[in-house]
Amino acid sequence: MTVRHFLTLQDISADQFHALIHRAIELKKIKGPYEPLKNKILGMIFEKSSTRTRVSFEAGIVQLGGAAIFLSPRDSQLGRGEPLEDTARVLSRMVDCVVLRTHKHETVTRFAAHSSVPVINGLTDRYHPCQLLADMQTYFEHRGDIRGKTVAWIGDGNNMCYSYINAAGLLGFHLNIAAPAGYEPEAEALVQARDHVSLYHEPEAAARNADLIVTDVWASMGQEEEQRQRMEAFRGFQVNSELMALAAPDALFMHCLPAHREEEVSAEVLEGPQSVVWDEAENRLHAQKALLEFLLSPYHDDP
Ligand code: CP
Ligand code: NVA
Repeated sequence: MTVRHFLTLQDISADQFHALIHRAIELKKIKGPYEPLKNKILGMIFEKSSTRTRVSFEAGIVQLGGAAIFLSPRDSQLGRGEPLEDTARVLSRMVDCVVLRTHKHETVTRFAAHSSVPVINGLTDRYHPCQLLADMQTYFEHRGDIRGKTVAWIGDGNNMCYSYINAAGLLGFHLNIAAPAGYEPEAEALVQARDHVSLYHEPEAAARNADLIVTDVWASMGQEEEQRQRMEAFRGFQVNSELMALAAPDALFMHCLPAHREEEVSAEVLEGPQSVVWDEAENRLHAQKALLEFLLSPYHDDP
């Protein structure tokens, strides 16, 4: 039996993506106990900090009837040099699913190659697919289908940006990316996605008539030393009221959080009426419950 992993959005089909979004919306409405994953154990290895991803996965698996075990490199043998492949083989004999948050994307692919249970990417330097499940659920809840819409990504060509590129291909929206020179996604990824992605260097050009404006921090985890240089490079890329005014009148604003007010986004936009960031954060819980059910439940049909 092949094991189904969720390392990037390319591990699911467009139909499966839609089914996960709709299932997340349904799960959000369930009030009483619903425990299809009774006795299932989720292993969670986090080599980087997290608030939302950790809490939403831990709360989510418990709500579905299971339990979570959290490991940081500090308290596991992984931090003392035990090979990743050995850790994957051992853990997957004990738990039913593993969430891994790490630096290199190659670490999750290597781990998955040696795991006998599903592995979920909880963020790597290259992708953050779980966040996209929540973002897309949030868009569908507020505005309906995103097919044919325009999304503007303002800022760094980072892990979130690459996951937006993947989502655009699967869900049929157009992604306008505005990044400073030198901070764009890799040329090869842009060429592959050229039917649904456009690259700009001016935020105004990308934001014009967009249905959704999205941004993220200018220095991601692991780039702390570049903070000062990045603040300089990203000057002019703040999502503020002037930029929002160029988008469609009913445009939404999203940010995966944590946000740095008055850097990549003004406090006015973050706290303003077009911002859906709190729903977006809450939806991490519902979207990942749908994902866990999809990967783990023997009763759930392939969406
Ligand atoms: N958006 C997100 O992944 O947040 P955390 O880093 O808090 O998990
Ligand atoms: N791009 C950010 C996302 C945090 C959820 C980072 O990798 O730090």
